[in-house]
Amino acid sequence: MKLKVSVIGTGYLGATHAACMSSLGFEVIGVDVDAAKIELLTAGRVPFYEPGLEDLLQKEIASGRLTFTTDLRAIADVDVHFICVGTPQQPNSLAADLTYVDAALDAVAANCKPGSLVVGKSTVPVGTAARLRERLLKINPKADLAWNPEFLREGFAVEDTLHPNRLVVGVTNDAAENKLKEIYASNLAENTPWVRADLPTSELVKVAANSFLATKISFINAMAEVCEAAGGDVTVLAKAIGYDPRIGSRFLQAGIGFGGGCLPKDIRAFMARAGELGADQALEFLREIDSINLRARQRVIELVRKDLSDNLAGKKIAVLGAAFKPDSDDVRDSPALDIAAQIAAAGAVVTIHDPKAIAPAKKRFPALGFSEDIEGALKGADLVLHLTEWKVYRELDPAKMAKLVANPIMIDGRNALDREAWIAAGWKFRALGRAN
Ligand code: UGA
Repeated sequence: MKLKVSVIGTGYLGATHAACMSSLGFEVIGVDVDAAKIELLTAGRVPFYEPGLEDLLQKEIASGRLTFTTDLRAIADVDVHFICVGTPQQPNSLAADLTYVDAALDAVAANCKPGSLVVGKSTVPVGTAARLRERLLKINPKADLAWNPEFLREGFAVEDTLHPNRLVVGVTNDAAENKLKEIYASNLAENTPWVRADLPTSELVKVAANSFLATKISFINAMAEVCEAAGGDVTVLAKAIGYDPRIGSRFLQAGIGFGGGCLPKDIRAFMARAGELGADQALEFLREIDSINLRARQRVIELVRKDLSDNLAGKKIAVLGAAFKPDSDDVRDSPALDIAAQIAAAGAVVTIHDPKAIAPAKKRFPALGFSEDIEGALKGADLVLHLTEWKVYRELDPAKMAKLVANPIMIDGRNALDREAWIAAGWKFRALGRAN
């Protein structure tokens, strides 16, 4: 008999995890307090854009294995409960807000059967799992808790969930590990590396991985600043250092930096937690990583001023991209949208295009201008900013685009466009980290 699974919290992580667990043959119940979200998911609709997820969701609902509910009593005979709720940054501090994780644990503890395993997947400050385990055992002494961090990337969520590059399980005993081995049997059959850790290490693995990725991006953006000062080209530099396998070429794309719901808040929460533990000095460098990242946004705005004027009032600026990265409609801490909002606040008339993120961007900044088509955004523009590297922007015909704008000036905030092709079509082309 296959284990029965519940997924508590059906946001980005939870909805994907629920659909993927069902596709592996488990009977899955997705639970959320948000009735509107549950209604959408039950109807086979995903409330955000993630390639491939909606098709999978519909297939799994049709199979009869996947259901959604707001009623926690439905988890009474479930064997493994995954906690997938969010841990956003607190409004007035760098630390993570654990309200949702605590509430989810209490709700599961009150409804789960003896012998069941609660598995945390949310990104939490180290020490949370041990605290939650104690709390669970007080309410339900025969249940157990493990931690199993998630490394999925938006835009590749289904693939990363079904075929992760490693599985990390934080456990306190063999029984919990064995149950997780049953859950991930198909990955083990594919020889996915399996790392057994204690609870604190498993929590730290996640924030350490995101801190490393953030550091890699800020490192190359720091090199971009030096390249600009020295007349070098950061794209060539990144290519050259990336050939060293110890460095590797991925995550070395210089530009306007990292954003989204994970990297920025995770490095901040990590610093805050290290401070509480008396290890703040160890993570002092992350403060610099954060400020290099935020500085990249200002550097693009400086380029805009350099090309137009210090006074941006009335200047028409087209912005290509609002999402924090391509193949996503997520605008949380999006560098693209932040830059658009800042130049609009400086008086520019901004028109934003994005293939998927216009609705969420509009919700955030209703006063900004938006265009459903690229041509509409570019028409009459004094300058164009390329801020999210969607494939459609790389496929634009620079000659055709030149006819739409008032001034053919392109600033590539992602170092993703073919500079030579744009220059050949008569554009003045600027990019971060390259001679401008
Ligand atoms: C990130 C991690 O990559 C995942 O492994 C992790 O599971 C996830 O956070 C999470 O904690 O849940 P994600 O937020 O989807 O995933 O986005 P990334 O692909 O890491 O990109 C983050 C940001 O860095 C984007 O704004 C992207 O544009 C930027 N970036 C990425 C660069 O500026 N340069 C690069 O070379 C790569």
